[in-house]
Amino acid sequence: MSAHTPSPNTLAQLQASERQRFIHSHPRSLALAQQAQAHYLFGVPLHWMRDWPTPATLFVQRAQGATLTCADGLAHADFCLGDTGAMFGHSPPALAQALAEQAANGLTCMLPTAGAPAVGEQLARLFGLPLWQMTLSASDANRFVLRWARAITARPQVLVFDGCYHGAVDDTLVDMDPTSGATLPRPSILGQVHNHSAFTRVVPFNDLAALERALADGQVACLLAEPALTNFGLVPPDTGFWAAARQLCRQHGTLLVMDETHTVSTALGGYARAHDLAPDFLVVGKAVAGGLPCAVYGFSAEVAQRMVAAKEAAPEGHSGIGTTLSGNALTMAALHAALNHLHTAENYSHMLAQAQRLEAGLRQRIAQAQRPWTVTRLGARMELQFMPHTPRNAQDVRDHAQADMEALTHLYMLNRGVLLTPFHSMLLVSPATTPQDVDRLLAVFDELLASLATAERG
Ligand SMILES: Cc1ncc(COP(=O)(O)O)c(C=O)c1O
Repeated sequence: MSAHTPSPNTLAQLQASERQRFIHSHPRSLALAQQAQAHYLFGVPLHWMRDWPTPATLFVQRAQGATLTCADGLAHADFCLGDTGAMFGHSPPALAQALAEQAANGLTCMLPTAGAPAVGEQLARLFGLPLWQMTLSASDANRFVLRWARAITARPQVLVFDGCYHGAVDDTLVDMDPTSGATLPRPSILGQVHNHSAFTRVVPFNDLAALERALADGQVACLLAEPALTNFGLVPPDTGFWAAARQLCRQHGTLLVMDETHTVSTALGGYARAHDLAPDFLVVGKAVAGGLPCAVYGFSAEVAQRMVAAKEAAPEGHSGIGTTLSGNALTMAALHAALNHLHTAENYSHMLAQAQRLEAGLRQRIAQAQRPWTVTRLGARMELQFMPHTPRNAQDVRDHAQADMEALTHLYMLNRGVLLTPFHSMLLVSPATTPQDVDRLLAVFDELLASLATAERG
């Protein structure tokens, strides 16, 4: 262990005092947590909400712009932003107004609204693919795209990267055996009975040779990938990786599906657009409609023709694609407003400028404190990584995992009014994030570094 990596004792000591601090300053959240135990599993509406580093659940009173106010009336600069759902800020006024108007005019009809054609045009303009379908979540969109890809290629296999997360999509919830490269069940998945090694292949990110081997037998319907891994720390692509990977997919007749649910934070229109990757399918969820339950998937004209042919060739009946509320009137109105007012060059220019400031401030402090850590940034999102270099693949992240340091950082910041994403140390900057929010985070990071140094001396 490096001389500048905090010891387990130091971390445990600071963690204990931060837990006490949270308990003293959040009496109302503690009372609500107690009350919620009676009717919610784990005391929360979704069990992930207990994955925050707090001794009890933090309850929200209000979220507006980049500020989240908890039930105890404490304001937090929110760099979690609903793990990307609120990437454009909480309740942007244009979205709130569109929702109020549509709410009085029908919520769901199993028919397209009169505004639907305009939304299709906006999606095509923004993301560069001509044809679209709607779902309620990115998990749904990914599941349905896998189904389409297998149907139109008549190939059984799908390929993903080790460390991937594409939502609650069974085929992708697998790991890779680091020595043999075989597909393994992900041990944490509950109720898993299917053997996905039969139909899912996994390769390390940034490994073109492994990718080529996986594609070589012509059995892979699609490669489903994020442009950068964002759910296993932030792992960016090597220079030239995607140009070569794109070419390999074409060469082997494998469709390229880009899941831009998180990487839409890269630039206006997402990473694939900015880097000219020309995917066959593109998936965007979470923030696409400003945080309403909505995701979209787009595809090329050639792929669309094959989808139509597959549907027409199938007997009448369930397609296994779609859910009743997909494309409902309320989310279509939200999407329309979001595409008009949130996905704008002006918003991205603000987000990227503040994200650059934050990255530079963190890097400077890490260097000054001589800690073996780094910051990796992709547009408006970045990851504070407790390892000395930007990782190249999931195994690199596993090899350097510092769970205790992460947990302490999260709780320490939360106790001082700054929220990071609970699942890892992701920070996201919204159009509503102010320079003062960035300064606040940097000041709290200074305090954390000072507390670590004091604890190490004592
Ligand atoms: C890249 C990516 N795709 C898909 C999903 C699934 O999104 P949802 O949980 O909204 O279905 C996630 C969730 O974190 C994600 O990170």
